[in-house]
Amino acid sequence: MSQGKVSQHAFDVLRNEPAAEGIWRLVISSSVAATIMPGQFMNLAVPGDGSHILRIPLSFKCANADDSTVELLYAVVGEGTKRLSLMREGDSSVLTGPCGRGWWLPKNEGRALLVAGGIGLQPILAAAGMLAGEGVPYDMVVGVRTASLLLHDDLDAMASAMGEDGQLVICTDDGSFGQHGFTTDATQDLLDKQSYGQLYTCGAALMMAGVAKIAAEHQLACQASLERMMGCGFGACSCCNVELASGGYALCCQDGPVFDATEVVW
Ligand SMILES: Cc1cc2nc3c(=O)[nH]c(=O)nc-3n(C[C@H](O)[C@H](O)[C@H](O)COP(=O)(O)OP(=O)(O)OC[C@H]3O[C@@H](n4cnc5c(N)ncnc54)[C@H](O)[C@@H]3O)c2cc1C
Ligand code: FES
Repeated sequence: MSQGKVSQHAFDVLRNEPAAEGIWRLVISSSVAATIMPGQFMNLAVPGDGSHILRIPLSFKCANADDSTVELLYAVVGEGTKRLSLMREGDSSVLTGPCGRGWWLPKNEGRALLVAGGIGLQPILAAAGMLAGEGVPYDMVVGVRTASLLLHDDLDAMASAMGEDGQLVICTDDGSFGQHGFTTDATQDLLDKQSYGQLYTCGAALMMAGVAKIAAEHQLACQASLERMMGCGFGACSCCNVELASGGYALCCQDGPVFDATEVVW
């Protein structure tokens, strides 16, 4: 899929509210909606004092070019995301985007399998939207530590969008909702039962490493969306290196965040 050029866009907050424990849903109005593609990200400047210079890289769930809206989910983990959660309807700032290389369509025939861990669900929901738009059927595995972290509204909407044809497997590490266990176990079970044409994954690095290993054992093409600490978000500061299996390094912000899982040293 063609990816737009990174540039600065203004944004206005339309909604910013809790969606699950420690997770917020942000809806913005911004011209970036016209060009950002599933799996790409944007770098948001959040108002603060002069010491707050770094922007916050965030993926997005869906973008609507017709009304210039973008919906994002984010976990409040530190100072920047806490300040973001304080932005209210009508507040404005700027972002850079669309950044990086997003998901690509499967090169192989067959169903796709989407595997999400934690807040990694967000780019996976964007991948689901891309696949649905192209008529590619898919199943999905979603895992979180415990039930309070589940984004029930998004998962209910996903279950209805998938209909009876698709399988949505929800796992919790502590067994408080859905299947007790890890996404890697559920992925292994599905791949043992049926074949897929492509796997898409986003979540903790350890989880993605496990999923990538299982995909490789099943000779299944796998795309993984990586995270690195980022400075600029567009290739200027070299702080987001990803070690490559072929030797050398790629930049997560420019060559990724989505990589072919076989290209990466896990
Ligand atoms: C391409 C990309 C897409 C992302 N998409 C999302 C998303 O859709 N939703 C979401 O909730 N988060 C996403 N993140 C992570 C998000 O950018 C960080 O959680 C955020 O920048 C933390 O900022 P902070 O100031 O609140 O935390 P800080 O005070 O800076 O740090 C708090 C904790 O978060 C860790 N952290 C900070 N920045 C990152 C980072 N870039 N990657 C991994 N860990 C980090 C720190 O090591 C520390 O443990 C994404 C990161 C990248 C690189
Ligand atoms: S974040 Fe600056 S080069 Fe990637």
